[in-house]
Amino acid sequence: MKHLRFLNKYFSKYKWWIIPGVFFVIISNIFGVIPAQVIGHAFNLITENIQIYGLFEGFERRTIIYDIFSYSLFYFGMLVLILYLLRGLFLFFMRQTIILMSRHIEYDMKNEIYAHYQELSLGFYRKNNTGDLMNRATEDVNRVRMYVGPAIMYAINTAVLFVLVIYAMFAVNVKLAIYSLLPLPVLVVIIYFVTSTINEKSEKIQEQLSKLSSFVQERFSGIRVIKSYVREDHTRKIFAGESDGYKDNAMGLVKVQALFYPTMLLLVGLSTILTVYIGGKQVIEGSITAGNIAEFIVYVNQLTFPVSMLGWVTTLIQRASASQKRINEFLQLQPDIKSGDLQPQQLAGNISFRNVSFNYPDTGIQALKNVSFDIRQGEFVAIIGRTGSGKSTLANLLMRMYDVDEGQILMDGTPIQNLNLGNYRDQFGFVPQEVFLFSDTIKNNIAFGLDSVSDEQVHNAAKQAAVYQNIINFELKFETMLGERGITLSGGQKQRVSIARALIKSPKVLIFDDCLSAVDTRTEEEILTNLGKMMKGKTSILIAHRISTIKNANKILVLDNGEIIEQGTHQELLKLGGSYAEMYQNQLLEEENQSL
Ligand SMILES: Nc1ncnc2c1ncn2[C@@H]1O[C@H](COP(=O)(O)OP(=O)(O)OP(=O)(O)O)[C@@H](O)[C@H]1O
Ligand SMILES: [Mg+2]
Repeated sequence: MKHLRFLNKYFSKYKWWIIPGVFFVIISNIFGVIPAQVIGHAFNLITENIQIYGLFEGFERRTIIYDIFSYSLFYFGMLVLILYLLRGLFLFFMRQTIILMSRHIEYDMKNEIYAHYQELSLGFYRKNNTGDLMNRATEDVNRVRMYVGPAIMYAINTAVLFVLVIYAMFAVNVKLAIYSLLPLPVLVVIIYFVTSTINEKSEKIQEQLSKLSSFVQERFSGIRVIKSYVREDHTRKIFAGESDGYKDNAMGLVKVQALFYPTMLLLVGLSTILTVYIGGKQVIEGSITAGNIAEFIVYVNQLTFPVSMLGWVTTLIQRASASQKRINEFLQLQPDIKSGDLQPQQLAGNISFRNVSFNYPDTGIQALKNVSFDIRQGEFVAIIGRTGSGKSTLANLLMRMYDVDEGQILMDGTPIQNLNLGNYRDQFGFVPQEVFLFSDTIKNNIAFGLDSVSDEQVHNAAKQAAVYQNIINFELKFETMLGERGITLSGGQKQRVSIARALIKSPKVLIFDDCLSAVDTRTEEEILTNLGKMMKGKTSILIAHRISTIKNANKILVLDNGEIIEQGTHQELLKLGGSYAEMYQNQLLEEENQSL
C-alpha cells in the first residue's frame, strides 16, 4: 500500500471531485435502501387487505376496499419507481465524479511519466527494453487508474451500503439478520481467491500476449529478410508455438471464470433460502411480518453485488500497488546527464578534448582512451578510422549523450557539464550515424518541432542537403508522408533528409556522423560545397570513411582502437607516411580497380 501514497498528491488536486463523489455514493445508497422498506410495507398491505377483502364477502363495501387497495398498491409502485430513478440519477453523478477523476489522474500520470522518460539519458534506454517502458506508461497506469476510479468507488459504495443495510436489517430482527448475512463472508473469501487466480492467469496471458506481439512486430519489420531467405514456414511454426501457450492459458482462465458466477449465485440462493426459512418461522411466531421477509430478500440481493466486489477491489488494490511500485521505480530515477548551472549562452565553437577516456557502462568496452585534441571556431575537422575505432562515441560524448569517465571536454574553455544542457545541445546540428525519420511528412521531419519555420526555410535546407530535387519529384512534394503510413525513401535520400534537419537549425557546431556514406561522390561534393558556404566561421566535424570526403579539412584526426594515432592536414598526414597514408593508398587502388 505504501507505493500508492504517491497518488495522494493527485487526490488532493482533485479533492473537489472526490468529495462530491463520496456524497453521491451515500445519497444513491440511501435511495437504494428505502425501496426495500417500501416493498416490505407493500407486502404487508397486500396480506392485510386480502384478509379484509375476504371478510367483506358479499358486502357492497367490497368494491370500495378493492379501489383503495389497488390505488395504494399503485402509489407504492410509483414510489419505488421514483426512488430507484433517484438512485439511478445519483449513481450517474457518482460515476461522473469519481470515474472522471480517475481519467484525469490517468492523464496527468501518463504525461508525468512521459516527460520523465524523456529526461532520462541514453544509458537508461539501453538498459530497459521498449516493451517494458511502454507497459509502465500504459498497462501499469491503467491498473492504477482502476484503483483510483472503480476500486475506490466500489469500496466506498460497499462500505456505505453495508452500514445502511445492516442497520436496517438489525433494526427489524437481529436473528434473521445474522442468518441471512451468514453466507456473505464465505462469498467474499471465495471471490477473493477466484479473482486472485483469474488475475494471476490473466497476467500470464498478458505476458504471453506481449511476447507474441513483440515477436510479430519484429518479424514484420524483418519481413524482407524472411522472404529473401524463404523462412516463412520456419517463422510460422515459431508463431504457432507461441500462440499455443497463449491458447492453453486462455482456456484455463475460462474454466475459472466459468466457476465464478455459479458459485456466486449458489451463495445468494443459500442466503435467500435461509431468509425465507428462518423468516417464515418468525412470521409464524409473530415476531416479524411477511413484508419483512420481502424486505430482507431485497437487502440480500442488494448486498451480493457490492460484497462480491470486495474481493475484486482487494485484488485491484494489490495490482495497483504493484504497478505503482514499478512506476515509482522509474519516476525516482534521476537522469545521469544533468544540466549545468550556468546561464544559457551563445557558443562560439571552440572545442577541446583533454585526456578523455570512456567505457560503455553496461558492456565495459573501452571506446576511447586518453583522447586529446583542439578544434577552433570555424574549423572544418574530419575524423576517420576503422570501424569500431570510437568515432561515433566521440560524437556522442561531445553531444553529452554520455558523460566522460576521465578527462574533460571543454566548449569555449568551459567544461560542458557546467553548461545548460538544453541550450548547449540546441546549438548543435547533429546527424547521427543511424538515420531516424519519423512517420510524418517530409516537411515536418525537416522542420522537426521548430516553431515558426517558413516553407522557404524548409526548401532551402533541402536544397543545401541536395535532396530538394528528389522531394519535388514526389507527387505530394514536401507533404509526402514517410514511414509506415507513407513512402520509403532510399538510403541516400534518408541521409540527406536528416542532413536537412540539422542544417535548418543554422547550428553553431555541425556534426556529421558518417552520414554521406550512402550518397554518391558527386552529390557529396555538392553538399560539402554548400556546407563550406553555410558553415563559414562555424565549426564542423565530419566523421567519414572515404578520404575523398575529407581531403579539404583543416584538421584530420585518425582514430584507431579508441586512440588518436595521427592528426594534421591531408598533406601533413601523407607526408607522415603512417596509417592515414596507407589508407589513402588503399582507397586510391580501389578506385583505380573500379574504373578499370
Ligand atoms: N551503446 C553502446 N554500448 C556498448 N558498447 C558500445 C556502444 N556503442 C558502441 N560500443 C562499442 O564501442 C566501440 C566504439 O564504437 P563506435 O560506435 O564509437 O565506433 P565507430 O568508430 O563509430 O565505428 P563505425 O565506423 O562502424 O561507425 C565499439 O567496440 C562498440 O562495440
Ligand atoms: Mg560510428
